[in-house]
Amino acid sequence: MTSAAASVRPGAVVILAAGEGTRMRSNTPKVLHPLCGRTLLGHVIAAARALEPEHLVVVVGHARDAVVAHLTEIAPEAVTAHQTELLGTGNAVRRALEVVPDVVGTVVVLNGDVPLLTAETLTELVDTHHAAGNAATVLSAAVPDPTGLGRIVRDAGGGLAAIVEQRDATPDQRAIAEINSGMFAFDGALLRTALKRLTTDNAQGQEYLTDVVALLRGEGHPVDALPAPDYRETLGCNDRVELSRLRALLRDRLLERWMRAGTTVVDPATVWLDVDVQLGRDAVIHPNVQLHGATVIGDGAEVGPDSTLTDTVVGEMATVVRAQCDRAEIGPEATVGPFAFLRPGTVLGRKAKIGAYVEVKNSDIGEASKVPHLSYVGDATIGEHSNIGAASVFVNYDGVEKHRSTIGSHVRTGSDNMFVAPVTVGDGAYTAAGSVITEDVSPGALGVARSRQRNIEGWVERRRAGTPAAEAAARARAAADQATGLATGDDPADERSAGENE
Ligand code: UD1
Ligand code: CA
Repeated sequence: MTSAAASVRPGAVVILAAGEGTRMRSNTPKVLHPLCGRTLLGHVIAAARALEPEHLVVVVGHARDAVVAHLTEIAPEAVTAHQTELLGTGNAVRRALEVVPDVVGTVVVLNGDVPLLTAETLTELVDTHHAAGNAATVLSAAVPDPTGLGRIVRDAGGGLAAIVEQRDATPDQRAIAEINSGMFAFDGALLRTALKRLTTDNAQGQEYLTDVVALLRGEGHPVDALPAPDYRETLGCNDRVELSRLRALLRDRLLERWMRAGTTVVDPATVWLDVDVQLGRDAVIHPNVQLHGATVIGDGAEVGPDSTLTDTVVGEMATVVRAQCDRAEIGPEATVGPFAFLRPGTVLGRKAKIGAYVEVKNSDIGEASKVPHLSYVGDATIGEHSNIGAASVFVNYDGVEKHRSTIGSHVRTGSDNMFVAPVTVGDGAYTAAGSVITEDVSPGALGVARSRQRNIEGWVERRRAGTPAAEAAARARAAADQATGLATGDDPADERSAGENE
């Protein structure tokens, strides 16, 4: 997101993620809950990476296997420190430093469940820490409700004196609105020695990382608290209500950025998007749209209302209305929907059209070709400027294997065709409505694959006598007979033509 790397690379960033997250009431570890395309932990790692640390250490404990497996996937450079017992944040950081014994320079400590922290703020924390030559710099925040959080206690001169946990705080201290975000920059060597001197002499009987601040200050080292520019960046996630609020905040932040870059978002409250989604200039996002993964919306394209796109590329000036698209490529000026389902491997050329109630999978549909109505196109290649008749099915599955069909360019297929794969329809060919195409149609040919129609005259009046249908038929026959009688009176030639038609 940012290119503003800190002026000094930290020796290590330590991310605390051993806690259980009981209040999530989940089988999934808290830090693995998803938020706009990344896990909570994934967001923290993304911010940490902007600092380009020499070591990235994640402290794992609860549901450790799941967290480690996730890290292997998203951050193979991370090393993990195992904290077998949750003995406090100070204990957790000590575990972390044990796995990187050679670390020198600055050590940054982050919480694995604080996903809105930006790389900019983190960079500012590290830069301020270095500029002041501090032993410890804590990121603080003035919050509307500090309940449960550690308070920033300042001395008469406004300097940081200590961090006091809610449970250990006096009534006066509890009235302080400036809190400890849990994020710090430390002088690594001083941190390492201070951690050895932590006690468990507090209300929770734990080793508090926060006590390091007062210890270092007591030894005469400079410490300070840097207030975050926006307290919301420091919000943690303890339950699913907080998770939903964080998601809305992140959504707002992402959409604001895209709107300022030139995208129209008609109703930001009903649009959800992942962090890696890209929106073009003059693109319009209508209400009730979800954009996931690596979805890219091109310049001037319109998406929505009511569409969900995952890892889908929408070309310039294309429109997508009430559609579900997964790993599809939609060409420039193409139109999709309403009520279309594009599955993986769908590639639509420029100005191609996928209309109402059409499903497409693993198919290439060339420039300006159309599948306008009620069809399934699976495993097909369709050339340019071709039209597929309404209610057609590419019969791609023989019960064991999938097969591919090819339709050329400038082809016109009739409505209600079955293309039984593998089959090829050549350039410029036509097919008749209602055909089951099992054999190739050569270029320019008309493929007809249906039985001839036969009418059994008078069948309804004979076999369904007394029904409203029979009565209607009788009336129609009487009217026709009368008309024919009048007509024959005028021109006996009509009798001959009627006979020829039999
Ligand atoms: C901590 C801070 C508090 C701060 C708050 C911000 C301490 C003593 N208190 O409180 O000042 O306002 O964070 O959210 O540091 N963790 C471990 N191992 C442990 C304990 C915790 O990895 O043994 C991890 C947790 O998973 C979590 C983070 O450390 O990611 C913070 O732990 P938590 O229990 O939430 O600390 P708080 O009591 O909220
Ligand atoms: Ca917490």
